[in-house]
Amino acid sequence: MSGPNSDYDPVEVTPLKEAEVEAMREAALQAVAGATDLDQLRQVRHDHAGDRSPLALANREIGALPPQARKEAGMRVGRARGAVNQAIAARQAELEAADEERMLAEEGVDVTLPWDRRPRGARHPITMMSDKVADVFVAMGWEVAEGPLVEAEWLNFDALNLGPDHPARTMQDTFWTEPTDNHVVLRTHTSPVQARTMLTREPPVYVICPGRVFRTDEYDATHSPMFHQVEGLVVDEGITMAHLKGTLDHFAQSMFGDGITTRFRPSYFPFTEPSAEVDLVCFVCRDRSPARESCRTCRGEGWIEWGGCGVVNPRVLVACGVDPDRYTGFAFGMGIDRTLMFRHGAEDLRAVFEGDVRFSLAFGSEL
Ligand code: DAH
Repeated sequence: MSGPNSDYDPVEVTPLKEAEVEAMREAALQAVAGATDLDQLRQVRHDHAGDRSPLALANREIGALPPQARKEAGMRVGRARGAVNQAIAARQAELEAADEERMLAEEGVDVTLPWDRRPRGARHPITMMSDKVADVFVAMGWEVAEGPLVEAEWLNFDALNLGPDHPARTMQDTFWTEPTDNHVVLRTHTSPVQARTMLTREPPVYVICPGRVFRTDEYDATHSPMFHQVEGLVVDEGITMAHLKGTLDHFAQSMFGDGITTRFRPSYFPFTEPSAEVDLVCFVCRDRSPARESCRTCRGEGWIEWGGCGVVNPRVLVACGVDPDRYTGFAFGMGIDRTLMFRHGAEDLRAVFEGDVRFSLAFGSEL
């Protein structure tokens, strides 16, 4: 290492000869010019301007020179170091600017590109319809009830007064699960939710239950082995058929518009007594001549079949633990898919299930 030395000839001190300093400076400047990115420049700074660079080491030698040689050597090394530092700073600025330009170009966003080319998802029309139905009843203070799709035979049939010999219990209509002696079915209607509700709540009961049901039907334009129903049930003191009629009229008007009334036709369901088929006045021709004669919605009938309903059979109340001397009730059930189809003029039930967006888009993209 260096130290005071009186035999020292400053001109001969290798690192401080003009040519040597010049060479160090040249090498440094070349390296700076050759650095093509900031990483390389960092390395160049370390090699040529760092603590252990030739010029820094030369600088340290100055103190060891005889005083008369120090000034010139100091100036020479100082100028060289200054030039190198300046070159590094200039190159740094150049490379940073280039980097920034590249980033702007690469990461730039073309704000003129269309942003909505991919349509937003939307709920399925059946979901929208089920929610709309539920909303009508929730607004009157009813509750939404649910039950399982895989249901006990007893709740799907027996509790609803569908005795073992009822035609709806034959293998043709019902999907039975294996082994059949477990007595478990895919529910064939939403009516078992009536039984479940009565078994778990004390009257008064006001519930609406939209959901999926299953039957061993062929898949065609008007049938599907899976479809949707909505079930309504009221059990309270003093409930009559008049309450049922008023409720269904309100339901019809909420779904189809003012003035859309219902009519009852006598019918039979094991779980209601008396029972009725409920029709809706055609919301297009309103059963008025001459529009009715050419009406495509009701096919000239003036009325559209909507569902079944009735006063809850006391046998059902008893099976579900409700006192029939104190309480009466009404119930109704409609097909949601059917309602959707005639409300929107759909011709083929399959369109409801096959997920073609050309069908669902027509219902809008309500989320
Ligand atoms: N469960 C019946 C069906 O699937 C529909 C029905 C009729 C439901 C009358 C009811 C009712 O609640 O009272 O065909």
